[in-house]
Amino acid sequence: MLSRRETLSTALKAVCGISASVASPLGTLLATPAAAQPPLRSPAEWTIPFGAALRDGPLADEPDYRAAIVKHCRQVVGEGGLKWFDLRPSRERFVFDQADKQLNFATGNGLELRGHTLVWYGAMPDWTKTIASAAEAERELVGHIETVMGRYRGRIKSWDVINEPIPDDPASRSDIRPSIWQQRLGESHIALALRAAARTDPAAKLIINEYDIEFVGDRFRRKRDAMLRLVRDLKLRNVPLHGIGLQGHLRGDLAIDREGLSAFVSEMRALGLEVLVTELDVVDDRLPAPPELRDMLVAARAYEFLQAIHAAARPTAVLTWGITDKYSWVPLWFKRGDGQPNRPLPLDEAYRPKPLMRVLEHFGQGPR
Ligand code: XIL
Repeated sequence: MLSRRETLSTALKAVCGISASVASPLGTLLATPAAAQPPLRSPAEWTIPFGAALRDGPLADEPDYRAAIVKHCRQVVGEGGLKWFDLRPSRERFVFDQADKQLNFATGNGLELRGHTLVWYGAMPDWTKTIASAAEAERELVGHIETVMGRYRGRIKSWDVINEPIPDDPASRSDIRPSIWQQRLGESHIALALRAAARTDPAAKLIINEYDIEFVGDRFRRKRDAMLRLVRDLKLRNVPLHGIGLQGHLRGDLAIDREGLSAFVSEMRALGLEVLVTELDVVDDRLPAPPELRDMLVAARAYEFLQAIHAAARPTAVLTWGITDKYSWVPLWFKRGDGQPNRPLPLDEAYRPKPLMRVLEHFGQGPR
């Protein structure tokens, strides 16, 4: 009979195309059952701050959820709360309740809250469709940024000012995703927003956040190229911008373009930009069902991703999009055909660390 290690390592090769040598951290993971692993290091000992996205329901109702966040994180970000849909039910009104609660929780527990997000095509309230002219769009966008960033000035120190500016399959290097801002102002809305953000909180880190940067395939290469074009252009024109967020919604069934990703990160560093991982999780709808095997494949995919980034530069933060499999956005879009729950995140549904958490710790802690 095959040993546990042999079975997992064969599957790793077959499904992910990854071979884990005995000496590698993945090899150690394969060889050591969860129960036999040493305790995780405390968040303060990690040299790269780790964090996770917060969901408001369990944040309000579930002590175990709050405890898990405090136990593992140095940073948090709201899954919602600072999106237009949440803040702006009508043109006249700003509703800060959700974001204020998140900030109180963060501050009360010594965590940094990241701001997500000021400019995005998604989660827009219906009334924004009535924005009719360039002048009106400029007024609304700048006013929104001044009010929201102004309220949290000095308290939210890093903002995803721009979220997902590049289309899923860019037609050219200068393709920008449609949104009300793009329709009314063209690409200049990006510089406009970044400049308004820098004026409102000059000390804040201003980030452009994007997904699908990391996989093998033409579509993803085009996405990297388009992102690079946009960022180079902004830097050339001295538009304030401090970093790039790689969302990192990885796919269990898609290989990482290690060379392409490393080269992309190097280019960003050469432009003087930080690189953050902002929304890491591993979509597991097409992975084999057995949980132990699936958890290993999820961990392996994240390993491949983080290794390729680290080959070029150390990210300045790593955040996952949720902390526990119990609360994840993944089933909204990627439910499994066999009805089994998704397992995309670092803790299982009972808040026990999974192999993914060990991979995060490995890259996050720096040298032992
Ligand atoms: C998702 C949230 O997780 C969901 O709860 C919400 O309903 C929709 O948005 N990329 C992003 C995030 O930048 O804002 C998205 O969050 C997930 C994909």
